[in-house]
Amino acid sequence: MFLTRSPVVAEALRAAVRAPSPHNSQPWIFELAPDTIDVVLDESRILGACDPEAREARLSCGAALLNLRLAIAAAGRISEVELTPERDRPALLARVTLGPHHRPTASERRLAAAIPRRYSNRRPFTNEPVPLRVRTAVREAAREEGARLVLLDEAGLLEATAGLIRRADHVQALDAAFQRELRAWTRRGAEDDGVPVYAGGPRSAGGLLPGRYVKEDGAPRVFEQDPVVAVLTMPNDAPMSQVRAGCAMQRVLLTATDAGLSASFYSQPIEITAVRAELRDLLGDSGHPQTVFRLGYGSPGVKTPRRPIEAVARDRIEEERP
Ligand SMILES: Cc1cc2nc3c(=O)[nH]c(=O)nc-3n(C[C@H](O)[C@H](O)[C@H](O)COP(=O)(O)O)c2cc1C
Repeated sequence: MFLTRSPVVAEALRAAVRAPSPHNSQPWIFELAPDTIDVVLDESRILGACDPEAREARLSCGAALLNLRLAIAAAGRISEVELTPERDRPALLARVTLGPHHRPTASERRLAAAIPRRYSNRRPFTNEPVPLRVRTAVREAAREEGARLVLLDEAGLLEATAGLIRRADHVQALDAAFQRELRAWTRRGAEDDGVPVYAGGPRSAGGLLPGRYVKEDGAPRVFEQDPVVAVLTMPNDAPMSQVRAGCAMQRVLLTATDAGLSASFYSQPIEITAVRAELRDLLGDSGHPQTVFRLGYGSPGVKTPRRPIEAVARDRIEEERP
């Protein structure tokens, strides 16, 4: 297998699989050929209830793609990316070609180093404000990948968005298929996918932002007074744009990690179509909302497992061309 022949590829794949994904579903396959890594959407891992159109799965693959790019750069190689390289195979999202030697920039080194340190932290954050310098850095990270990060710091915007999160959360609480899927991906054992119960957060005492994967045991906790909530948007919502949104999401999360911040997601308003449309209207002409997260200074949380790279990588089989 090409994997065993190239330490750079193996290292890049170890970074790729650390990407976040809804319910830790890890909806990716990596097909290898000499000097190329194809990022393929694993259609068997699309979440039918919360992500029927595979938007979040494409975001996850986009995040894995950014990790690949950064790990390759940090290993001292250039990489070129072609999105959806084969028109008649939409599950093939990207082809990464390794090029010649490259001297990694300071930013590439720092973001690559942040990959194994990033995880979703669903616990309360402290009340320490996120400085302007860091807010600017995460906005810039999104822009670098063609997205926009809207920080909800205008009066009323946070409350209105929190209201949409609560409404969508309520819809999902009453949706039997959604609840079944959530239970199916919640893990009590030592599986290498799904969300282990220990990664859940406490119930929020104020209830402003309802979390997913709430620990049923334990008292509700007071969350930070003034949460920093951000919505990542794209100018359009085509599948390729969703992959790019995933790169942007991951660049934001890694930039935040590098600055000492924690993050957790609130996808409820994105997953309910009508609520997503309301969120889009609320943000004015900011584009199509792709993901919502809370940023802040957290106490240490826990990392979740991943499938080994041998389980998600295979050699590319060249089709015979007549
Ligand atoms: C598109 C997307 C949507 C997500 N939505 C939620 C969410 O609504 N609530 C939540 O707690 N985590 C959410 N997550 C985080 C995943 O549960 C998490 O990435 C996964 O369990 C792996 O854990 P890690 O992020 O700690 O590595 C989402 C992740 C992605 C990529």
